[in-house]
Amino acid sequence: MTASTTKTDYFIELEHHYGAHNYHPIPVVLEKGQGPFVWDVDGKQYFDFLSAYSAVNQGHCHPAIVAALVEQAGKINLTSRAFHNNLLGEFEKYITSYFGYDKVLPMNTGVEGGETAIKLARRWGYAVKGIPENQATVIFVEGNFWGRTMAAISSSNDPSSYAGFGPYMPGFKLIPYNNLEALEAEFKANPHIAAFMFEPIQGEAGVVVPHEGYLKGVRELCSKYNVLMIADEVQTGLCRTGKMLACDYENVKPDILILGKALSGGLMPVSAVLANDEVMLTIKPGEHGSTYGGNPMACAVATAALKVLKEENLADNAEELGKLFRQRMQELMHESWLISEVRGKGLLNAIVIKPFGDGQTAWDVCIALKENGLLAKQTHGDIIRFAPPLVITKEQMEEACAIIRKTILAL
Ligand SMILES: Cc1ncc(COP(=O)(O)O)c(C=O)c1O
Repeated sequence: MTASTTKTDYFIELEHHYGAHNYHPIPVVLEKGQGPFVWDVDGKQYFDFLSAYSAVNQGHCHPAIVAALVEQAGKINLTSRAFHNNLLGEFEKYITSYFGYDKVLPMNTGVEGGETAIKLARRWGYAVKGIPENQATVIFVEGNFWGRTMAAISSSNDPSSYAGFGPYMPGFKLIPYNNLEALEAEFKANPHIAAFMFEPIQGEAGVVVPHEGYLKGVRELCSKYNVLMIADEVQTGLCRTGKMLACDYENVKPDILILGKALSGGLMPVSAVLANDEVMLTIKPGEHGSTYGGNPMACAVATAALKVLKEENLADNAEELGKLFRQRMQELMHESWLISEVRGKGLLNAIVIKPFGDGQTAWDVCIALKENGLLAKQTHGDIIRFAPPLVITKEQMEEACAIIRKTILAL
């Protein structure tokens, strides 16, 4: 680092030089986090309104989760599933009774959870539903995002996900989101459908909230046509939208539930797939797994992270402060022509930005927000998602909304 380069420039240049260019981050270099706040390498404090894409629901460095990690780190970290460990069974018991399923299959990342759910669905399709070999179809919706593996991009209609990476995984079909007629038409036309996989609110698509009744409708159609309902709650789950699960808004229970991100409170990758025995027991020993899936550290951390969600009533806080946030943004929308829409549930929210100035976009708004002490990230050019840690207080939320207001009005 020369005298003329700042610390921030130095670290960004290192990443640019030695790392793959598969992300386009906001130019800020973070080194510390606590609750809803993060600090950059120059000591500047920011509100974190992304929460690592909703992985840090419990707030940065939550003391109870950190303590669980530290305590376990000194005992044993990884056993692999070649042997049993003394925490896995306890964690499995805890999480299955927490969500009301017979069994859980622990993995690491969200996308692995999605892959696991699809394997389970295909296997169930052959072993239980009686779909002829290799003919199982899984239905997805347009705008979905569940990661970057070959299966995930094969089910995507976003060229920035799939283009140039073919050939693609067969057996997937896309239909419009939030459209029960399209779903039923597909179910009627094809008797070989194993599952319908979707997000109860689409996160990466820009916080797209379906109409009331959609989740119930999906549940009814899946039951009627003997198709597994797979809810990807990797981003919406764990109190983010104001309920423990977004599916709870319509009291529906998916056949397969995928969780990730905040399952560890942001400390390490932990994901989980939950299902009842009819589905889960179709996969036999040796047919699926992961070296790190179900490791003792993950079990200790995930158990602590789940406890925090309930003990601190984070669903209620998300619901209440989400309403306040949307109210403030609606007020701002009336003051500024820059915002064309405000939407979301709980603390998963977004505003849509009209193009302004010299072809400026939501990216430029995020840069201005950063200058004023709030970090958020645009999606699809014109949308800014706002998803702070759920431990944020009312006073902090008012302060953050004031920063957004000041920034937008100055543009
Ligand atoms: C709904 C949803 N599912 C799955 C994933 C993938 O999770 P991960 O990045 O941990 O693999 C994401 C990531 O953003 C997501 O939003």
